[in-house]
Amino acid sequence: MTYIPANTVQDNRATGSIKLYGPEAFAGMRKAGRVAAECLDMVAGLVKPGVTTGEIDDKIYEFVAAAGAVPATMYYRGYRHSSCISINEVVCHGIPGDRELKDGDILNIDVTAFVDGWHGDTSRMYIAGDAPLKARRLVDVTYEAMMMGIAAIKPGATTGDLGHAIQAFAEGHSYSIVRDFCGHGVGKVFHDAPNILHYGRAGTGLAFKEGMIFTVEPMINAGKFAVKLKSDGWTAVTKDRSLSAQFEHSVGVTATGVEIFTTSPTGRHKPPYA
Ligand code: MF3
Ligand code: CO
Ligand code: CO
Repeated sequence: MTYIPANTVQDNRATGSIKLYGPEAFAGMRKAGRVAAECLDMVAGLVKPGVTTGEIDDKIYEFVAAAGAVPATMYYRGYRHSSCISINEVVCHGIPGDRELKDGDILNIDVTAFVDGWHGDTSRMYIAGDAPLKARRLVDVTYEAMMMGIAAIKPGATTGDLGHAIQAFAEGHSYSIVRDFCGHGVGKVFHDAPNILHYGRAGTGLAFKEGMIFTVEPMINAGKFAVKLKSDGWTAVTKDRSLSAQFEHSVGVTATGVEIFTTSPTGRHKPPYA
């Protein structure tokens, strides 16, 4: 594996080279991450039965624009929206539209704020009205799993350590880890090397180094891990129609551990947010 100084905006997924960023990049990611996190805080007040996902997406656009930023998903590979909103059996990349939230829906809202050239990529789960205990448990376990993966990050530890921490915890609750989508390098490029798998064996994979910046964004299913794509070409759903949950943070490797760029400034880490 090659680690390179991060002085380009080149997408290195083809070469596999891993960029190592310096203090200015960490400052840029802090700012972009904060805008995205504040946006997800704002969204907490919008999620309720009767509201459409399109209305939420519009408010996300307004919030990000008012912060002087741009939603990175807008026009990304033909995508046309400010967020992805993934309800119940939707694993990821749900397209905002006319769908009204119903009491008991659980949903992931994923926002990437592009601020001064940096991408703050983060998502959280939300609950419309009251959801059954089974659904709330999946949401809690998914949040804890993401945080356990992040806690495994420090120089010298590996991507396999991160994946193993998430997988062991989620499978311990009889859930499954989605294989078809993963975390990714992030920074000046939205989706960059390396791939961050949310399952794996301890001690395997790529060694973390100070200056790496990437996302941790496990998708965890109540049933089996198989996913299928709907005919719109974006929406991924569980093949067995079981519930799916996801949280996402953008993080950077420090000299001694990890910095999270997308922490909620108001403590709205996971539902309930009231
Ligand atoms: N924000 C998503 C991620 O976590 C990517 C969404 S790309 C889109 O990587 F085009 F579907 F919006
Ligand atoms: Co995202
Ligand atoms: Co991401």
